[in-house]
Amino acid sequence: MFSLEKFIADCQQALEDPSPEQTVKKLVQEAIADPAAFKAAIEARGKSESIADAILFRSKELTVLPVSTAPGMMTPAHDHQMWAVIGIIDGVEPNDFFLEEDGALEKKSTKTFKAGEVAVLKGKVIHAISNPLDVQCYAIHVYGGDLVEQPGRSMWNPHTFKREPYDIVKLSQYVTEISESSAANALD
Ligand SMILES: [Fe+2]
Repeated sequence: MFSLEKFIADCQQALEDPSPEQTVKKLVQEAIADPAAFKAAIEARGKSESIADAILFRSKELTVLPVSTAPGMMTPAHDHQMWAVIGIIDGVEPNDFFLEEDGALEKKSTKTFKAGEVAVLKGKVIHAISNPLDVQCYAIHVYGGDLVEQPGRSMWNPHTFKREPYDIVKLSQYVTEISESSAANALD
């Protein structure tokens, strides 16, 4: 039977490996091979009120964050400054990838990860994710550091497109603002 506790312990153990993100990628692939069990384990923890509230495990070296996205949800662009492993449990997770050029953020590509897929993102990657479907989507994100307090992280204000220091509370607020406006636009 799938155990979130064992999954987290295995991810912690993976930090001892020379390429922990590749070991975590394998662990995530195994874990999401039974998407129903993973989803049930996350749902058993109840609804989260914010991104910070949804974090399952957090240390200086590792963050484990189940991501349950509502229809129409969008995040602002942000970086991580640590490796990230993204596994899609149910639905899709479109990732827009950006580069900062001459102080301006430019969207360079979009890759839509689908259920069963696992991606490894390098620390300098700038991305934004969304849920374009009309159903809830589920993913698991594992990061090689402290997602909340990793130094040097940035996010881009979705209204002014200016770079700001990463702040998980403010990011949640931006998600609400731009997701609501996208939902309102969809009703037009
Ligand atoms: Fe991210």
